Amino acid sequence: MNDYENEMSYEDRILETTYTAEDSETEFSLRPRTLDEYIGQEKAKEILKIYIDAVKMRGDTLDHVLLYGPPGLGKTTLSAIIAAELGVNFRVTSGPAIEKQGDLAALLTNLGQGDVLFIDEIHRLNRNVEEILYPAMEDFALDIIIGKGPAARSIRLPLQRFTLIGATTRAGQLTTPLRDRFGVLLRLELYSPRELAQIVIRSAGILEIPITEEGALEIASRSRGTPRIANRLLKRVRDYAQVKGDGHITLESASAALHMLEIDELGLDNTDRRMLETIIHFYNGGPVGLETLSATIGEEAITLEDVYEPYLMQIGFISRTPRGRCVTKLAYEHLGIPYRPDSDASSNQISIEE
Ligand code: ADE
Repeated sequence: MNDYENEMSYEDRILETTYTAEDSETEFSLRPRTLDEYIGQEKAKEILKIYIDAVKMRGDTLDHVLLYGPPGLGKTTLSAIIAAELGVNFRVTSGPAIEKQGDLAALLTNLGQGDVLFIDEIHRLNRNVEEILYPAMEDFALDIIIGKGPAARSIRLPLQRFTLIGATTRAGQLTTPLRDRFGVLLRLELYSPRELAQIVIRSAGILEIPITEEGALEIASRSRGTPRIANRLLKRVRDYAQVKGDGHITLESASAALHMLEIDELGLDNTDRRMLETIIHFYNGGPVGLETLSATIGEEAITLEDVYEPYLMQIGFISRTPRGRCVTKLAYEHLGIPYRPDSDASSNQISIEE
């Protein structure tokens, strides 16, 4: 067994950005319902407000929208808000859930005029299915093949004009024909600690948890720029404050709870530290290719790239170079490891890619 096998898996991480059953219980009630209630993403909101107002003035349908960026930033929430602001129905599905052309055809034919169809993880749509999306998005039509072989013929069914909102963590993986059919491309950014603190205070209000501003900021600054994590940590800190104190979340109780969860001042957990330390100790700080790193840590490359890296890059702990990932001096300082990028450790470097 290697050293890492008995550590937490990605699924167990409290800092995980994918959805868990517990999230879905409370997240629904915590979700903002209007653009004004939605905190942060100012640029995306400003653009959306203009388009939504223009569409409403003309009685038109909103152009197809692609939302991209790291997980947990509120793409689904924002999409539901767009539909609500437009006063239309909101239908939700995801790339992997649509297995056959017929599944998508059924969804499309049930849409009313102006409705929003939200496809999460749209980069995971299978190519067959994707093909029927092209005429649907462009001409609001469904091309159906009837029969097989020489007798096969195609008929075109008209659809209502609708808005497709696609969400993806990896815009680069979308095929060009699909990407080109979106009129509005919006990148969601990681949130600042100040914005996350506002979200934590708002959520605490809804969940009736007493919290001080300092307590909220403490949770916010350890939530790696992600509302889903901030809301999850809020609930864990509440548990701690109830059992160990009087239930109030203050700087002290938040800090003690997060310490117990082994989440450091910057929001890094064991897995982040392991990733940084592996690059430092095995690859002398890098560069190391993602696949090599993935094999060494035993974590999927896609998870490293989508979940761990965005935040480590945002705080300047990892840089991406054409030859691979490098750990920066800042990260060495944070981990308390002397910065010696040219030491002999580089002879450990084994690359199984590139
Ligand atoms: N809860 C989760 N994300 C939020 C956001 N952006 N604004 C307000 N509350 C939220």
